[in-house]
Amino acid sequence: MEKNNGEQKKELSQEEKICMKMDAIGRKILIMSGKGGVGKTTVTVNLANALAALGHTVGVLDTDIHGPNIAKMFGLEGRFLEEDPETCEIIPVTTDNGIRLVSLSFALPDPSQAVVFRGPMKLSAIKQFLADVRWGSLDYLLIDSPPGTGDEQLAVCQNIPALTGAIVVTTPQKVAILDSAKSISFARDVSVPVIGLVENMSYLICPHCGEKQYIFGRDGGKKLCIETGIPLLGSIPMETGLEEAEDNGENWLSKGDSESSAVFREIAAYIHSAIKPTSSKDIGYVPKGAGCSPSACSSCTSDCPSRKNG
Ligand SMILES: Nc1ncnc2c1ncn2[C@@H]1O[C@H](COP(=O)(O)OP(=O)(O)O)[C@@H](O)[C@H]1O
Ligand SMILES: [Mg+2]
Repeated sequence: MEKNNGEQKKELSQEEKICMKMDAIGRKILIMSGKGGVGKTTVTVNLANALAALGHTVGVLDTDIHGPNIAKMFGLEGRFLEEDPETCEIIPVTTDNGIRLVSLSFALPDPSQAVVFRGPMKLSAIKQFLADVRWGSLDYLLIDSPPGTGDEQLAVCQNIPALTGAIVVTTPQKVAILDSAKSISFARDVSVPVIGLVENMSYLICPHCGEKQYIFGRDGGKKLCIETGIPLLGSIPMETGLEEAEDNGENWLSKGDSESSAVFREIAAYIHSAIKPTSSKDIGYVPKGAGCSPSACSSCTSDCPSRKNG
């Protein structure tokens, strides 16, 4: 408890802080996949840049604790998260085009250092990133994740009230499709709407004859969408130069028109028109500790949310 002008000011619980911060953000979207290396971070970074280019305010949270790539792909390795000395909030690293980034890689002095965290530590780090970062008011928070359906995805889905939805990224071959089906079933199990599927590395355009070559098979993503009843948001080709641009931390979309950049822009425009902002109020969520503090409030009744939630 803090004293403020003679009045007692209640310290907010972590759940209340998360709820307040997430309600200031319109759309909160988890990017996930069954397999590693299929392009989750690529989709996150390029969608963030595409949304920012459309004039939206964007934040990116990297929940890939063991393999964070957000700093590198935005070209901001070597930058560090700072703390506001007055509010003790974490201040995100901001890109030239205004995207607010938070990743564990902005807290590590050596990017090659391994992060050895067990599940509870990952949960605690992700909750802190949700509760204690000064995200401010944003149109979008894109949440990059490691492959699979484990601690990090659960931490996001169970702690962001009214998470807007999940985008599943896959490549077209059978093994990736099989694992992506698990991401879709996970999202459904935890009642998170699936916004759609992005098929990455769908084909390669032959630099000699210009023909499309379906190296990993054809239409795997489309078939999965039909089977599971989710929209196919787009098919992104394997693009010469994209991987190098990302290695160098360059904004691929500002490097000139390409087939992949057109698809990223289309997906961003579709999401903005089709997906509505979400808030805890939509689902009647009351965070733990909300309402008055029973010890400080003489009129507290058994209906008070702070009593109901313990
Ligand atoms: N469509 C693409 N064309 C060319 N390279 C790509 C494409 N998508 C991803 N890559 C490259 O493939 C590698 C893995 O992508 P990444 O986004 O890191 O996958 P994930 O986050 O799922 O592990 C990166 O080096 C990335 O630059
Ligand atoms: Mg990644």
